[in-house]
Order: sequence, then C-alpha cells, then structure tokens
Amino acid sequence: MAITYELIKRCSKTGARVGRIYTPHGVFDTPIFMPVGTQATVKAMSPDELKAMGADIILSNTYHLYLRPGHELVAEAGGLHKFMQWDRGILTDSGGFQVFSLGPLRKITEDGVTFRSHIDGSKHFLSPEKAIEVQMALGADIIMAFDECVPYPADHEYARQSTERTTRWAERCKQAHTRRDQALFGIVQGGMYKDLRAMSARDLISLDFPGYAVGGLSVGEPKPLMYEMLEHTVPLLPENKPRYLMGVGTPDCLVEGVMYGIDMFDCVFPTRVARNGTVMTSRGRLVVKNAEYARDFRPIDPDCGCYTCRNFSRAYIRHLLKTEEIFGLRLTTTHNLHFLLNFMKDMRKSILEDRFLSFREEFWAHYRK
Ligand code: GUN
Ligand code: ZN
Repeated sequence: MAITYELIKRCSKTGARVGRIYTPHGVFDTPIFMPVGTQATVKAMSPDELKAMGADIILSNTYHLYLRPGHELVAEAGGLHKFMQWDRGILTDSGGFQVFSLGPLRKITEDGVTFRSHIDGSKHFLSPEKAIEVQMALGADIIMAFDECVPYPADHEYARQSTERTTRWAERCKQAHTRRDQALFGIVQGGMYKDLRAMSARDLISLDFPGYAVGGLSVGEPKPLMYEMLEHTVPLLPENKPRYLMGVGTPDCLVEGVMYGIDMFDCVFPTRVARNGTVMTSRGRLVVKNAEYARDFRPIDPDCGCYTCRNFSRAYIRHLLKTEEIFGLRLTTTHNLHFLLNFMKDMRKSILEDRFLSFREEFWAHYRK
C-alpha cells in the first residue's frame, strides 16, 4: 500500500477526528492543511522554510506542470520530489479542476477534455488516462482522479450527467494507474444535490479507493449550503480512509470542515492573500498594507511565534509591501502559513483532549471575517 490511514481519536460530540497517514515520504497527523505549490514551488518559500513552519505535505498541479516544464522533464529530473528538493509528502491535483476553470477555452466529451493553454493558446487533450500518466511521471505520494467539478449553479440534469461521467472517469483512472507507491483518491461530486452526492459517494466507494475527496464545493455557493453538503456527504464515506475537502482553507471553513469529519484541506488562500498584503490572525484578517499601520510597531499577531512576528513590525512589513520589496511577500507568506499550520495543530490537540466543541466556540467568539 502506498499510504496507510490510522484513526487515532474520535470527538465524542461531533464528526471531528485525529488520524495518522503514513506515506513513502513521511508520516503526518490529520486534520492537516496542505500549502499549495502550483508550479512546483510554494510561492516565495524554500523547502527548508516550509519544514521549519511544520508543513508535512504540499499540493501541486498536473495542469500547470504538464504545460510547463512538462511531466517528461520532471520525470527525467528524477520526479517532482527530487526536482523541487522536497522530501516530504506531495499530492497532485488531476488537472480536471484547472481545465474546467478555463471556460470557453475547453470542450468536454466522454473521452476527455480538449483545451487551449492559458499560456500560449496551444491545443491539448486531457483524459483520465492522460491525467494518470502525467501524475505517475510526476510521482506524488497521493494523486487525484480526473473529474469534472460541477459548476455552481447547475441544474439537476446537468449535475447528474456530469457526476455519472466523473464516476466512469474514476474507473478509467483506476485502470490506468499502475504505480504501487502512489495512492489514487476518488473525488465525490454531485453539485449541490444530496441525492447526487449520495450516488457519487456510493459508486466511488464500490471502486475501493484508498481515500476520498469531496470536490465541487467552495465554487461560489453560500457557505451554509457548503456546510449542508458536508454534513450530508462526509458520513457516507468510509471511516477507515482519509477524507479530503478540495480547495478550502479559510479558518472558518477549516473549523467547520473538521467538525464534519474532514482530514485534509488545501487552498491558495493563505499564500495568495499574503502577496496582496493581507495577513490572518486569530481575530480575523488584517490588511497590513493599509495606512493605519504606517506607525504600528507591534508584530502582526502578538500571539504568533513565527519568524515574521518574532522579528518585524507591521510598520516595517507595510513599508516593504508599499515599496514592492520581495522580502515583504516572504514575511507575510511565512506568517500566514505558520498561522494556518499552527491552527490545525491546535485543532488536533483539542480533538485529542476531547474539547473540540469548546475550541470551536472559542474560535467563533473571536473570529471576524
Ligand atoms: N479543487 C477544488 N475543487 C476541486 C474539484 O472539485 N476537483 C478537483 N480535481 N480539484 C478541485
Ligand atoms: Zn506570525
């Protein structure tokens, strides 16, 4: 087996749980947040810095690496781990989501998706078989089935046909996948329809994947609707396998996702907003670029132990961002990743001590968006 999941502790009052995942590149505890390294780099961070912040697994993208530098080149370099000098876990997304985000640049058939590159307009074809070929060449520890993320809103008929096709694609992915040192996860779709979510979960479970993702959420729907889908879908998934909520990573959604029993998350949010001058704190977001911080010589978050907060003031970071100094982006990214990774650690601890509900209450009492 490429990965093993061990359930360590269940919350007595909610679906939250702590588990441990063993991969060929290390062991980590869940619930976990995976920083995003789309182009084989978590923007502005070195692997050593990521390790120092406590990152155990990062996410990278089939679509981007297939286009540039090409999966064959990465394989020639010895695989993605060696290419980017990251010896801990890697998960690659299948490219489905990115290709579908291209809008008019793509065309879907039963066989796969024809699309034009967002870089130079060149024409390409991704199918379940191709997505698996690329991901086998990249060599991540966990790879994802090629799916269609049902857009929001979508009518029931479209969502049903798309979800059924995603299941047929998942079966083809499984057939095509031959690397025994990689785990291939299935992705539950179904749009915002409970019957389709149940159908998707049931059909994918019969294919017996080593882990399951919940896809097609955080695509523009109101948050209460996303929570309703999670509440309905997660309990349908096997208890002895990891569950991954794709593309979700704001603190509020992390807390709620964990409560419903999600084990893994990824999101560009912390790294992307950092580069726009927004930092996260236990009290909500702070736009450190704003004029009100020009003479604020306190750290971003006095309770944070990250390199940025131990050494630099809001005023200094604001100055760097205003003058477009690269170091400013490094400082805000460092803080945001440290903050989220630490937040997950605190959540795991609260579950182990069976006080997750009070952790959640405490969080909501202080959190402003
Ligand atoms: N990232 C965020 N949502 C999704 C999804 O539904 N499918 C895939 N493949 N990636 C995602
Ligand atoms: Zn900090």
